[in-house]
Order: sequence, then structure tokens, then C-alpha cells
Amino acid sequence: MKTKVLFQIKKFAKSEYEQSGDSQHDFGHAERVANNCELIVRALKLDNKVNGRLLTAASYLHDVVSARKIMKNYLLNHIFEKNLNRKFLSKILDNFDLTSAEKQVLKNSIVNHPYSIPYRISNKHNDLYSKILQDADSLDYVSPIREKSFLYKSGRLMQKLTTVYMTYIRKNLKSYLNFPEILSKLELDGLTAGHVNKT
Ligand SMILES: [Fe+2]
Repeated sequence: MKTKVLFQIKKFAKSEYEQSGDSQHDFGHAERVANNCELIVRALKLDNKVNGRLLTAASYLHDVVSARKIMKNYLLNHIFEKNLNRKFLSKILDNFDLTSAEKQVLKNSIVNHPYSIPYRISNKHNDLYSKILQDADSLDYVSPIREKSFLYKSGRLMQKLTTVYMTYIRKNLKSYLNFPEILSKLELDGLTAGHVNKT
């Protein structure tokens, strides 16, 4: 993928997230997922097996369809996230000068990325891009900055329930990952995701 194309994808994704005003699917989240992808690739020494630019592009675009809130209802958008990506992503990817192989990688990984937390629907038997993107997204799910977005505008009871839920997810994070070993590897290499609360 050309640098220019990655830049165009970044610009497009940024504008999509800004327009949606969705606090959970903002460009900051997409950038943190891209950063987590890099950490995972380095920790697992996968540099020669994946294309870093494609992973960054997948990270930027992975929630663009969700942010459009096509079904006008949070729960329905969440439940049908996979189907919505399958239906609308190709048209988005056609706007960029990508090869058909690049489009395929981006579409597969983005369609496959949801449902790890809380449903434990992982990508253990899928391609590397799907596994890495899903784990990178899961790592950001437990970050304090993302937790703040879940708590945005919620009442005290909802805040308490969210805290209990997040504590459970953090304690069991390994069981939601395609590469559970990354948690200890990130620690061993001193490449902590910075935001993974280990309590
Ligand atoms: Fe995400």
C-alpha cells in the first residue's frame, strides 16, 4: 500500500469518526488500536508475516461502519456489526487505490473483528490480520480512556455496573484474546500497551 493511500484512509476515517460524534468510536480509539497492532506484531515477531501499513489501515477503518449508526439503535448496530461491515465496507474500500488482495485483507479482518468481548467469539482459526486486529481492539477495550467513553453521560448505577463489568473483563482478558501470550510477552519485552490494567 502506498503511503499516499494510507494518508487518504487516515483522513477519511478521521472525518467519519468526527462526523459521527460517537464517543466510543472516535479517531483516538482507531489510533490506539493501530498502536496496539504494532505492539502485538513486535512482541510476536510477525514483522515478516504481515504488512504493517495494511494493519494500520484496518485499524483506522475498523469502526467506520459502526460509527455511521446505520440501524439508528445502539444495540442493533452492535448485534449486526459483522453483517453491516460485510454489506457496506466494499463500497468504502472502492474509494481508495487498493489492490484486490489488499481490499480482501482489509474486508476480512474488519468483518471478523467484533464479538471477542464479551462473547468470546475469537478468530483463532482465521488469518493473522483478523487475529491481530481483534486482539488490538480488545486491548483498547480495557484501557481507562475507553472506559471513560463507556461511562460518558451515564448515571451512578450504570457507572457502578460498568466498573464491576470492566473489572471482570480485565481479570479474564486472556480468555478473550487470540494470542493470550501477548500479555506476558508485552510485559517481558517492556512493551506494555500502557493502558492494560493488570488488577
Ligand atoms: Fe473498535
